[in-house]
Amino acid sequence: MATPTDLPPEFTQTHTVVDAEADTTAGPHDVTMETIVELCKRRGIIFQSSEIYGGLRGAWDFGPLGAALKDNVKVAWKRSMLQLRDDVVQLDASILMHPRVWEASGHVEGFTDPLVECTNCNQRWRADHLEPNKAGEIFCPNCGNKEFTDPKAFNLMFKTFVGPTEDTSAQVWMRPETAQAMFVDFAHVQLTSRQKIPFGIAQVGKSFRNEITPRNFIFRVREFEQMEMEFFVRPGTDERWHDYWISQRWDWYVEHGLRPENLRIRPHATDELSHYAKATVDVEYRFPFAWSELEGIANRTDFDLRRHSEFSGRDLSYFDQANDERYVPYVIEPAAGVDRSALAFLVDAYREDEAPTAGGKVERRTLLKLHPSLAPIKVAVLPLSRNDKLVPTAREVNDLLKPNVVTQYDDAGAIGRRYRRQDEIGTPYCVTVDFETVEEDRKVTVRDRDSMGQDRVAIDQLVGYLAERLPRC
Ligand code: GAP
Repeated sequence: MATPTDLPPEFTQTHTVVDAEADTTAGPHDVTMETIVELCKRRGIIFQSSEIYGGLRGAWDFGPLGAALKDNVKVAWKRSMLQLRDDVVQLDASILMHPRVWEASGHVEGFTDPLVECTNCNQRWRADHLEPNKAGEIFCPNCGNKEFTDPKAFNLMFKTFVGPTEDTSAQVWMRPETAQAMFVDFAHVQLTSRQKIPFGIAQVGKSFRNEITPRNFIFRVREFEQMEMEFFVRPGTDERWHDYWISQRWDWYVEHGLRPENLRIRPHATDELSHYAKATVDVEYRFPFAWSELEGIANRTDFDLRRHSEFSGRDLSYFDQANDERYVPYVIEPAAGVDRSALAFLVDAYREDEAPTAGGKVERRTLLKLHPSLAPIKVAVLPLSRNDKLVPTAREVNDLLKPNVVTQYDDAGAIGRRYRRQDEIGTPYCVTVDFETVEEDRKVTVRDRDSMGQDRVAIDQLVGYLAERLPRC
């Protein structure tokens, strides 16, 4: 019998749900993917891997600002999953695991996509990604040919070998999801962390999938990071917990700046469900190319724990002392992608508006209206010029702020251009040191990225002023 402690706390549902078959057309968007890719390259946020050698398909590098953005996404996720909760603990497991793990999970047998080859140019495609025309015909996107080989199941897991021999006994897989370690380690983590069901295990880490057609920038890549949490519950309470986690995850995206009108929850149709799932919903985001999955939230039942018990011979059931009862827990899994989330946050933050110039005109400006907790740089410190009188005070202000927030000191170029640069990378505040600061009042000008409003703030009040406006930064 479920008791109140087995059930989720009360919550208010604010999310929008659509049908499994909902139209995926994105409609008019504020920004194109080309603009985002260009901005990311120009500002060193994200760019092609191994670019000097011509790049590698499906692999991208996160430069200084992109790495910080990704870190901030992970910190925000861990804050909500771990820091603010008592019922979730962390795991950092190996990427390489015993090969039997992937037999038990079903990945060796079934983690496949349908691969077809164009009979003319021999390009290979994922069959379900080829868009049919109105007559239902599909064409090779490379050469326009209509003839393809029959679809064949292509396993997405990357193979490698442990040790010096490259034979099947030494073969292991690069994990295609972080989830399995949380099932395999379930009993050990539960015992040593003294958690009682319901509780969760959360993990952030790299996963690898040999996608047939990586595409849409960092949306579908071959190496990516996941933020997954396996929440173990008493069977019978699983549907309530599934609803609860859908709501929690929706709120997280909205709290961190995604506009609710660009988000929706789409339940999977029965024929779309993974082999382990009783029910799954996707949190979908309106990317410029289509409504697409940002995160999957699945009710994985007791499938994984049962399979690992069977394959390893270890009992992975749970003894509920309060009810003197043993059962195999059900699992609710919110599984998000760091790269995909970062892309959604970038797309949603992109704005163009008009800003006054020093000469009294207006010019177009681009800004990333990122949530401050996600912004790579929180405060830019800008001396009005490189004048010797200004530099020591500007450096002093930068040193004062550095222990509290991530700053960037920038003295290169006209002040207007430096504001534009900071707007474009999403810096919430610019602090300017001018001649009045050093000659008259020891006050700086603090400029707000979104409103472009300016306040004069005394240097000795600056840390408090910014702390109020940049909580959790
Ligand atoms: N453990 C369940 C699982 O892995 P999934 O829907 O395959 O479920 C979860 O993956 C999330 O991981 C996706 O919603 C997406 O954000 C991210 N993801 C999956 N494949 C990806 C890829 N090839 N490139 C970028 N992100 C990916």
